[in-house]
Parts: sequence; C-alpha cells; structure tokens
Amino acid sequence: MNVIFLGPPGAGKGTQAVRVCERLGIPQISTGDILRRAMKEGTPTGLAAKAYVDKGELVPDSVVIDIVRERLAAEDCQKGYVLDGFPRTVPQAEALAAFADIDAVIDIEVSDEQLTERLSGRRVCLACGGTYHVSRLAGATACMKCGAQLIQRDDDKAETVLSRLGVYHAQTAPLIDYYSARGLLKTVDGAQPMDDCFAAILSALGEKQ
Ligand code: AP5
Ligand code: MG
Repeated sequence: MNVIFLGPPGAGKGTQAVRVCERLGIPQISTGDILRRAMKEGTPTGLAAKAYVDKGELVPDSVVIDIVRERLAAEDCQKGYVLDGFPRTVPQAEALAAFADIDAVIDIEVSDEQLTERLSGRRVCLACGGTYHVSRLAGATACMKCGAQLIQRDDDKAETVLSRLGVYHAQTAPLIDYYSARGLLKTVDGAQPMDDCFAAILSALGEKQ
C-alpha cells in the first residue's frame, strides 16, 4: 500500500507513520528526516537545504522531488511505503503522480493552537527518529528507544513555528482539495489521543485493529 500522510507541522505525521509502518512492514519516508540527516552530515543537499529549513520555509520542489524519486526506486519500497511530509505543494504532487501510484492520502487535522503547544514541547532523537513531548519525559534527556541524547529541533523555536504554520496554510493545505478531487483523501482527527488516532488511521486504510 502506498500512502501519503498530509497535515500541518506537529499534527503527528511522524509519530503515526512509525507505528503504521511497523504494523504494515513498509518503510516510512520522511523528507524532513532525510533533509535533517543531510544537514547533520553536511552533504551538498544538506548545505543547500539548511537556509530554508532553519527559516521554516520549504526547500525547492526540484530538490525534494529528486530525493523522493530516488528513494521510491529502492527495493524496500516495492511492497509499499508511507510518505511523511511529501508532497507539500501542488507541483510536488503533480511530479509524484508521474512516478508513483498512491492508494490513500491521510490528512491528520489539528488546530493551530494545539500545534504550537506540541511543537514547543517536542524533543526528538536524531539517531532513531524517536519523538517525545517534554510533558511525558519526566525530566529524561535520553531517547527511551536507543539511549541517544534528545534535542529540540532548531525549527521548533516559537517564531519559526509560526512561519511553518503560515507556509502550511499557503502552500500545503491546497493539497487537501487536490487529493479530495481524486477520491483519495481520508481525514483523521489528530487531536485525539495517540492510540485513538492510530486506530482511526488503520480503519481509514481498511486495516484490522
Ligand atoms: P518535517 O520534518 O516534515 O516537519 P513538519 O511537516 O513541519 O512536521 P513535523 O515533523 O514538525 O510534525 P509531525 O506531523 O511529524 O508531528 P510529530 O509526530 O513529530 O519538515 C521540516 C522542514 O523540512 C520543513 O519546514 C521544510 O523546510 C523541509 N521539508 C520537508 N519536507 C519537505 C517537502 N516535501 N518540500 C519542501 N520542504 C520540505 O508530533 C509533534 C509533537 O506532538 C510530538 O511532541 C509528539 O509527541 C506530539 N503528538 C503527536 N501526536 C499526538 C497526539 N495525538 N496527542 C498529543 N501529542 C501528540
Ligand atoms: Mg515529522
């Protein structure tokens, strides 16, 4: 099954993609994670992306389209995948349609107010992709899955979060109509507890709980 997770920053795309991918035995392809890894390693793509990511702006379409095209050609994607954070513009969706057959688009909805609260308290593990909220860490600073140091993403600072939300509404939200018109869109309430959100996504995908 080839699935897209759509939704604003902080909606829970990454959190739910990890669980859905584990359940279905397919890879999670997060363009944000790929770009952050490239930035950390200082690759040419990472260096080019940094200025955009740090400001909360979108990296140019051509860069992310090439990344995803190459990734989807890999052997482990042949049984399916979850695209987390791609496409994010109509040109990206149009490009994707030329090299992928998408079965479903899950739009995870959360209010801007809740998103701001979630992102300001988020801590992530760059080693394994683990995602936490400070309210559930009880002071812990290491990843519960792999033990690596947790960090706050640079783009989770308050002013950058505002800019990311603005970018989402202007450039990514139009994809809701785009995929709805193609009969692929399934909307899930991302404000409910994580387990309920997971169950709603499985149900939207026609999978058993
Ligand atoms: P990216 O990494 O994709 O960030 P994003 O879309 O802004 O989304 P986030 O990762 O911030 O949120 P999420 O929905 O994954 O939520 P999470 O599960 O972590 O992109 C970063 C940047 O890279 C972009 O700004 C851009 O510059 C660039 N980029 C990436 N893709 C691109 C593309 N296609 N084109 C161009 N540029 C691109 O959860 C958030 C928090 O909420 C966590 O603390 C979590 O524990 C908590 N939480 C999750 N679910 C719940 C729940 N149900 N209840 C309570 N808390 C919850
Ligand atoms: Mg994410």
